[in-house]
Amino acid sequence: MDIKIERTTAPKEKQTENLGFGKIFTDHMFIMNYNREKGWYNGRIVPFGSIELHPATTVFHYGAEIFEGLKAYRRADGKVQLFRPIENVKRMNSSAERIGLPQMPEQDMLEAILKFVEVEQDWVPSGEGESLYLRPFMIGADEHLGVHSIENAIFYIIASPSGSYYTEGINPVKIMIEEEDVRAVRGGTGYTKCGGNYAAANRAGERAEKKGYTQVLWLDGVERKYIEEVGAMNVMFKIDGTIVTPMLSGSILPGITRKSCIEVLKDAGYKVEERLLSVDELLAALQSGTLEEAWGCGTAAVVSPIGQLYYGGQTYTINDNKIGKVTQELYDKLTGIQWGKIEDNYKWTVQI
Ligand code: PLP
Ligand code: COI
Repeated sequence: MDIKIERTTAPKEKQTENLGFGKIFTDHMFIMNYNREKGWYNGRIVPFGSIELHPATTVFHYGAEIFEGLKAYRRADGKVQLFRPIENVKRMNSSAERIGLPQMPEQDMLEAILKFVEVEQDWVPSGEGESLYLRPFMIGADEHLGVHSIENAIFYIIASPSGSYYTEGINPVKIMIEEEDVRAVRGGTGYTKCGGNYAAANRAGERAEKKGYTQVLWLDGVERKYIEEVGAMNVMFKIDGTIVTPMLSGSILPGITRKSCIEVLKDAGYKVEERLLSVDELLAALQSGTLEEAWGCGTAAVVSPIGQLYYGGQTYTINDNKIGKVTQELYDKLTGIQWGKIEDNYKWTVQI
């Protein structure tokens, strides 16, 4: 693929302290256009800046937007690597297919990501737990108000040097089980990374924040009975020695961290069940003392212990609000591979 590179003449000074998450952006961005007749064209890396769009552009009215999230990690030997980027490429195309946006040949999207990281590699931070968060996204870009199938789209990649997603870091987070709103139903868009899913989650997220909770844990959209996932991560529970995680039913995101955790756990000899898990079963396990650990997993959140759950007006504490053994093992293994501190026997990492 032909990618033109226009370098900035005014590189920014790189902040090295208090990075936060998704607040600072690098010097460049990747842009590529799509037209139904022409296909994908004009792939380019240009100086980072605002985007000017026609006010009738599809994305502003009918929400045609999908995105991905992956990280570039600085290894101890100074090299830069990505974690399973092909999985993000595949999921982006799966989201595109559902939302009616164009797919891109896998190798082309991967090449765009790798080239962009190569250009921005000096921005990959090297502090503990820090990485360069990459955000590929695509919008419907027709310039009219009719509701039609999409003929024009734009694909972008931006990047943000980031620290930990939660201010809690690796310390346990407090999660509110949402009883009123639902995020997704089967047949809907829950399994995609489309902006609309996050818009549907805003109201509950705001309510949770007001109560002092970090994020919402969603229940299924039909019976409001089964555990689904948290706002920005999948969830796993250790119940009486077995790891239980909601199965991929179509309404939750098929997380790449989730998939990696399952492989690592099975290889370490743990029994892992992907199945329906009702909130009643979870509360019964809490009350009988068999809920040993709970954690969320995602690219931004990595592996995050869940220390408290709120449901039905009551607060439940898990594992004395401490990180559990399996959660710690998983965190060490995944972050070890991602930051190149331990050998990657899975061949998950791709060096720049
Ligand atoms: N679930 C939701 C709703 C998310 O936004 C994310 C983050 O990407 C995840 C789960 C975890 O997915 P992954 O591990 O691929 O980052
Ligand atoms: C990620 O983990 O990459 C995410 O996309 C989470 C996010 C919505 C901040």
